[in-house]
Amino acid sequence: MRVLVTGGAGYIGSHTCVELINANFEVIVIDNLYNSSKVALDRVEKITGKKIEFYQIDLLCESDLEELFKKRKIESVIHFAGYKSVSESVENPLMYYTNNLSGTLVLLKVMNKFNVKKLVFSSSATVYTPAMGALDEEADLKATNPYGQTKLIIEQILRDLYISDNTWNISILRYFNPIGAHKSGEIGEDPDGIPNNLLPYITQVAVGKLEELKIYGNDYPTKDGTGVRDFIHVVDVARGHIKAIEYIDSSSGVSIFNLGTGRGYSVMELVSVFEEETKAKINYRVVDRRPGDTAICYSNPSKAEVELNWRAMKSIEEMCEDAWRWQLKNPNGYKVRKSEIWES
Ligand code: NAD
Ligand code: UD1
Repeated sequence: MRVLVTGGAGYIGSHTCVELINANFEVIVIDNLYNSSKVALDRVEKITGKKIEFYQIDLLCESDLEELFKKRKIESVIHFAGYKSVSESVENPLMYYTNNLSGTLVLLKVMNKFNVKKLVFSSSATVYTPAMGALDEEADLKATNPYGQTKLIIEQILRDLYISDNTWNISILRYFNPIGAHKSGEIGEDPDGIPNNLLPYITQVAVGKLEELKIYGNDYPTKDGTGVRDFIHVVDVARGHIKAIEYIDSSSGVSIFNLGTGRGYSVMELVSVFEEETKAKINYRVVDRRPGDTAICYSNPSKAEVELNWRAMKSIEEMCEDAWRWQLKNPNGYKVRKSEIWES
């Protein structure tokens, strides 16, 4: 089957391309390289030994996308492309609403025009109302920032689309906290500037690029007072997409699945596991809570296990080891930053 992967040069997209190619899918990637580098796709080729068909296309450019759909017969789409920083979305909501919503609308319009109606969409655990227990797919929804709002709005658009035309087959995947990297150390998470997320920050402290980790609060109602999250290996997340693509090939409707491990680890626990696995020392200091953070967020992943026959396999130790290998092999990430692309 030929699959179009939007945002395929990004963190989760590149890992998903590896799994798709290994499962014998034919992969076409589009990405505007705003938050990624073409080098990631070269590395995917190195890992898999197969060429990737890549087009540097911005999703907002409808004519470019139409051209591609005219030229290549696409059977299904995995849609990763979008902006993903919560803090940036609060500072610049128009940028987020424009890119994430308009990009998705253009994609859906073009898919509709070319009668391509199988879609897997990247949503996030950020759509859930904070709760102290495991979140299943029926849990209450609430967005607390423009980024989360774009995910909720897109989920609604997809439901409305199916109501209007029930030949669409759509799977919405709500990721919890993807971390780690491919075992080869060739691809991984490559944040631009100072990382917002926990594990990339830890690995940069460990490698000496950052002085100390700031732990945002140790007075939450959790076992050690620090926040608890459902960290999941990015390769497990990528594998979930293969299952979802296979699922929508044989069913119709809009299905929603959590991709998480079902187990929460605290910030302090992650730091300890990382130190234990890598023998690196993480200097840290406890500071005030980060606005907008919740105490606990972890999944009930049983729906994906029952219906997709998928479950997360990789341990927290493997997540730390693999992230560390990626960081050591690529202390400056892929080196080519979006700022350099825009300047050149
Ligand atoms: P990423 O930024 O690494 O990848 C997204 C890719 O989309 C980038 O390569 C970027 O250049 C591209 N892109 C953005 N706007 C585009 C446009 N208009 N046209 C073409 N390409 C465009 O992010 P990621 O971590 O791989 O996340 C992928 C998806 O998963 C996103 O939709 C994100 O919101 C969602 N998600 C991520 C996480 C996470 O922790 N990483 C958690 C939940 C959901
Ligand atoms: C964040 C986003 C979420 C998004 C996800 C993946 C917020 C509020 N939420 O989730 O919408 O889907 O990233 O991109 O931004 N922490 C520290 N020090 C740090 C960084 C993080 O103590 O330097 C703590 C946080 O307080 C939290 C935990 O580590 O308790 C995980 O944080 P992070 O990796 O940013 O993920 P989330 O906040 O869960």
